[in-house]
Amino acid sequence: MDLIQRPRRLRGSETLRKMVRETRIDKSSLIYPLFVQEGTGRKDEIPSMEGQYRYTVDLLPRKLEELADAGVGSVMLFGIPDHKDEAGSGAYDENGIVQKALREAKKQVPELYYITDVCMCEYTSHGHCGVLCGHEVDNDATLELLAKTALSHVEAGADMVAPSDMMDGRVRAIRECLDRAGHKETPIMSYAVKYASAFYGPFREAADSAPAFGDRKSYQMDFHNRREGMKEALTDVEEGADIIMIKPAMSYLDMVSEVYKAVHVPVAAYSVSGEYAMVKAAAKMGWIEEDRIVCEMAASVFRAGAQIYLTYYAQELAGYIDEGRIG
Ligand code: PBG
Repeated sequence: MDLIQRPRRLRGSETLRKMVRETRIDKSSLIYPLFVQEGTGRKDEIPSMEGQYRYTVDLLPRKLEELADAGVGSVMLFGIPDHKDEAGSGAYDENGIVQKALREAKKQVPELYYITDVCMCEYTSHGHCGVLCGHEVDNDATLELLAKTALSHVEAGADMVAPSDMMDGRVRAIRECLDRAGHKETPIMSYAVKYASAFYGPFREAADSAPAFGDRKSYQMDFHNRREGMKEALTDVEEGADIIMIKPAMSYLDMVSEVYKAVHVPVAAYSVSGEYAMVKAAAKMGWIEEDRIVCEMAASVFRAGAQIYLTYYAQELAGYIDEGRIG
């Protein structure tokens, strides 16, 4: 056969395949989401997320050290308070669960980088991501509370804050508040392109944060939309976001590539609880090979253009990178 183009030539050996590899994966890109709860001496497994736990603050350092040893340098903290109220006051309480966890974590394991999820839904009695006016989430009234929450996280030791509420104007409100308090250098990673997604189901069980009525469609995005996602990303960059996140990851990789091309800030993708649960469940049934699927999902996110990957599989992935099974 007189073929000029033979793409297979470059696939002939592992050495060659690695030489021409287009996507390189590094452990420093990984962020591990972690749940902290009130109480002591407890590490409770999340039923729909086998292998993921809600840690009390005293048991947190052990997990953090394990992550650091594995080479996962950053975590994203989520708080599960004991007490919820209409205004989500636990979110910005100096002695709230995330604030306490941060102080302890920074003291015990200072080498990790601490990012916090800034949102109201784990703290409000109604489970919505902001304060209510009637049955509607009041955008502007929520901004001040989000800014207060972000500031209290930073004052407790957060290295970066990540608003996930999807209120309009929250990046600006948080930036202004942090700057006024002298935290000009603390970056904001915005959950800018966040869809109203059934993929968050297991998380809501983990964080006990399902909305008591209605859904999140009046603030999270319609999953049919692409241009609207671009608008969200560009708006947040204008408001001062340092990093733009797309969430979920797997079904939204088109948005990762598109946003990557349109903005000049780093792009993050969050492989959410439902993605983790699907892989775990299918693997448990023996229907898929978990490790290979996890590597493929990770590579696809970086191939699409992300520089940062949030995943419940961060620790396993770090191991796969060490073993050269992905990289
Ligand atoms: C808080 C928040 C959610 C997730 C991250 N931050 C839940 C939601 O918006 O309902 C989901 C993460 C996951 O599913 O892993 N608003």
